[in-house]
Amino acid sequence: MKEEFKNDTPVPYEVVDKVVKEMKLASVGKASIREIKRLIDLLEEASKIKFVRMEMGVPGLTPPEVGTQAEIEALRSGVAAIYPDIDGTKKLKKEISRFVKNFLDIHVDPAGCIPTVGSMQGSFASFLTLARLHAGRDTTLFIDPGFPVHKQQHKVLGQKFESFDVYEYRGEKLRDKLESYFKKGHIHSVLYSNPNNPSWICFTEDELQIMGELANKYNVVICEDLAYFAMDFRKDYSRPGEPPYQPTVARYTKNFILFISSSKVFSYAGQRIGMMVISDHLFHTQSSELLKYYGSDTFGRAMIFGTVYALSSGTAHSAQYALAAMLEAANNGSFNFVDYVKVYGDKAHTMKKMFTDNGFQIVYDTDIDQPIADGFYFTISYPGLSGAELIEELVYYGISAISLAITGSERLEGLRACVSLVHPDQFPDLESRLKKFHLHHS
Ligand SMILES: Cc1ncc(COP(=O)(O)O)c(C=O)c1O
Repeated sequence: MKEEFKNDTPVPYEVVDKVVKEMKLASVGKASIREIKRLIDLLEEASKIKFVRMEMGVPGLTPPEVGTQAEIEALRSGVAAIYPDIDGTKKLKKEISRFVKNFLDIHVDPAGCIPTVGSMQGSFASFLTLARLHAGRDTTLFIDPGFPVHKQQHKVLGQKFESFDVYEYRGEKLRDKLESYFKKGHIHSVLYSNPNNPSWICFTEDELQIMGELANKYNVVICEDLAYFAMDFRKDYSRPGEPPYQPTVARYTKNFILFISSSKVFSYAGQRIGMMVISDHLFHTQSSELLKYYGSDTFGRAMIFGTVYALSSGTAHSAQYALAAMLEAANNGSFNFVDYVKVYGDKAHTMKKMFTDNGFQIVYDTDIDQPIADGFYFTISYPGLSGAELIEELVYYGISAISLAITGSERLEGLRACVSLVHPDQFPDLESRLKKFHLHHS
């Protein structure tokens, strides 16, 4: 920032400098999501100015009443005293199976429909078990950009991973890129999120088909993270049992695990309950390698009675009642869960325009030939500034986001902005702050 503008920033220059020094961050631009959150908390306290907070992906909505009520009733009836089955209550397993039939148009036996302690536990359990399934296959491939915690899970487990940024490999180009990894024989699974956190790209049916075909050819498991299920609002995926369905690789391969978080789509993040959906084929896959670690050579049994038993012995009983009730209502068509979260798309639409009207660009801007959807996240850059520099500068204007650099993206100029915590009341502030930023930097 030019010297002459230092006394004209929405958040006083000296306050930001003081707090940043006190936090002893090596670089604001490269800080983790939680570090940025702490910094902004401190800055709001010191400056008494409310920031436009776009750093953390937390749901900004009230949980659906049908879930809360079911959980209260379950607690009142005393379920807290009883150990739930490791692989979930019968009713929940049935509703998960119905849900994937109704909204993905796939059949999965309730046996493979397993509630987990958030979708994070599902991915942790999967990486742990998948790395033990076949001798010599010890590496996960991430299609980036992605959610940094999945890589953290690998580090904690001491497991290997490789990754690439999909930006340059959309469409048919994805085939050769994936095959270049698969043919080496060391990849046990692939993980990506769709819609994608952080870029909000959505894979096309053609791309999912390529992944499915290659998964079949090379016997690789595709782990599809559907944390933002049906939240590509360009299409209406909300009607049970009717097309269009949420796109999924599960229609192109029998080798899959789906992670369906209830945190964003059902605003139920606090109760830490998600769904792990293992294909019938993978569930029944047998391998003598598993016997080194588990009492069974069958993947599904090893997962439930080996891994999930060892990690947490299942997930909270009362939350399973909540999730079962929300799924049942969605399956019966009495609760339109997509309408409930559509507000995120409306906010993204307005906010993206404010950014682009003030000199910013959308970094991941298309799905091949379609403009990117409006949803929970979007990505931004400003000409002449790296992502790290851009965050450092935006903080003086009362705006926060995170750098794409921590997500495996090679677009180092980019930031991820999350719309969930920004209230429409703050739009005038956002607009005036962006105008000032542009005036000072153009
Ligand atoms: C892509 C992705 N996967 C998984 C999660 C975590 O889900 P859960 O809260 O169900 O553990 C998130 C949360 O932000 C996410 O963005």
